[in-house]
Parts: sequence; structure tokens; C-alpha cells
Amino acid sequence: MTLNITINLPYKTIAVFGTGSVGQTIAKKLVHLGHTVVIGTRNVSESLAKTESDGMGGQPISNLIEANPTLKIATFAEDKLGADLIILAVSGKAALSALELAGELPAGQIVLDITNPLDFSNGFPPSLFTPSTTSLSEQIQAKYPHIHIVKSLNTMANNLMVNPTQLKESGVNFICGNDNEAKNHIKTLLKSFGWEESSIMDLGDLVGARGMEMSLPLWIRVFQSRGNGNFNWKIVD
Ligand SMILES: NC(=O)c1ccc[n+]([C@@H]2O[C@H](COP(=O)([O-])OP(=O)(O)OC[C@H]3O[C@@H](n4cnc5c(N)ncnc54)[C@H](OP(=O)(O)O)[C@@H]3O)[C@@H](O)[C@H]2O)c1
Repeated sequence: MTLNITINLPYKTIAVFGTGSVGQTIAKKLVHLGHTVVIGTRNVSESLAKTESDGMGGQPISNLIEANPTLKIATFAEDKLGADLIILAVSGKAALSALELAGELPAGQIVLDITNPLDFSNGFPPSLFTPSTTSLSEQIQAKYPHIHIVKSLNTMANNLMVNPTQLKESGVNFICGNDNEAKNHIKTLLKSFGWEESSIMDLGDLVGARGMEMSLPLWIRVFQSRGNGNFNWKIVD
């Protein structure tokens, strides 16, 4: 099913922090939707020199840029300059350091956080490095109280984030955050990705990120059991 939705988005320039499969998938979709998109990395020349895929669906970043000539690449610090929206799609362990590398963030900056606090130090499946009394999103928000963290899209495989109608039913897309206006901006963005309003479940403030992140061990187990990540959660009454 293809949705034909025209949505006026409040964003023009979007900084996508992360050159992995998630950053690439989101950046590509945003370019196709007509946004000015800059993908952020630690070291531009090192990222462009990579020739290997990441094994998770991410191609060498130079291939992505070649196929999408309007897409730019910059360091995290350059990337955030003038961005109406930052999308945080780096490794969970690197979420705080990527923001540190970005430098000062303007008050009210909206950051869509897609990260998961996965710890692969003991192999696969990973554990979570945050205790159940908090979440990575809340830790980021506590460190940067002047910005608006909105959590969404972290509970599904990256291909579904921007193309939910490829499943028989799109299932649920959770969202949470402390600032309602920021959340509304992100809901509009999600709708432009193909999410219907009825599929977007608002879990309230950022405490909701605990459950969203803690669902990952179950997601990974289902992934192992099915042998693929082409599924989503559904809430029924
Ligand atoms: N894969 C999925 O389908 C999926 C689904 C839902 C949520 N997520 C979450 O989305 C996030 C991105 O996942 P991914 O698989 O696309 O990529 P990833 O391999 O988890 O992360 C790659 C990115 O992290 C950055 N990074 C790594 N170490 C860093 C450090 N020490 N300081 C600063 N940046 C660092 C890399 O920077 P460079 O560019 O400089 O190398 C790169 O941009 C993760 O948090 C993941 O849990 C993934």
C-alpha cells in the first residue's frame, strides 16, 4: 500500500548524526523528501575512504553520496550548524560523545533520538548498559536540559522506519519526549515517512524511553527466532 500524503514540514536543513545503516536510511529518505541533509561523522576523510559495507545494510558512505549528490557529509560540529533538526543515529555507546563533539547546541534544539543503549562487549546478543531506572534518552536530556530530546523509531529495523507500509500492517511506532511541541514536529516528520497518525503511539514524557529501550532484548530474541528483522510490534485491545 502506498500512502499519498502531502505534509508541510517545519524543517529545511536536517543534520543526521551517524553514517551507519540507520543514518544512511534516514538521510536517503529525507533527501528524497526534498530536505537539505547533512550526514555527520567524526572524520570526513576517514568515512569517505571506507570501502566496506557495515554488514547491517549500510553501504560505504561515498556510494550513498555519489547516488544522492545533494547529500553532504560533515563533522558532527559542522553538521549541527544551522540545522533545524538533529537526528541522532549513532551507536548508543557514542551518543553522548557525538553530541560532545558537536559542541554547543542552541536552546530549544530538537533532537530525534533513535539510539539504543546496546552493549556488545560480551558478544551477541547484546545487553543494555543503562539500568532500568533510567534510559539513554533521559541521560542525554539530563546532560543537555536546554534542548528537546524526542525518542522514536528505535524499536524497529531501519528499513521499516521510513517505509512502514511494506509490512501487511505497519504496527506501532512509539514516541515520547518532555516537550509537546517538539513531539508534534517529530510526529509530522514520521507521517511524511509514511506513518499514519493511528500508528503513532505517544507514551508521554521521556520516561517512556525506558520501556522503548528495554524492549530491545525482546526484539533481538524475536529477530533470532524468525531469522529476519522484517516485523513490528502491534498493540491490540
Ligand atoms: N540497525 C538498525 O536497524 C537499528 C534499529 C533501531 C535502532 N538502531 C540504533 O540506531 C543507532 C545507529 O545504528 P547503526 O547500526 O546505524 O550504526 P552504529 O554502527 O551503531 O553507529 C555508527 C555511528 O556511530 C558513530 N560512532 C561510533 N563510535 C563513536 C564514538 N566513539 N564517538 C562518536 N561517534 C561514534 C560512528 O561514527 P563515524 O561515522 O565517525 O564512524 C557512526 O556514525 C544505534 O544506536 C542503534 O542501536 C539501529
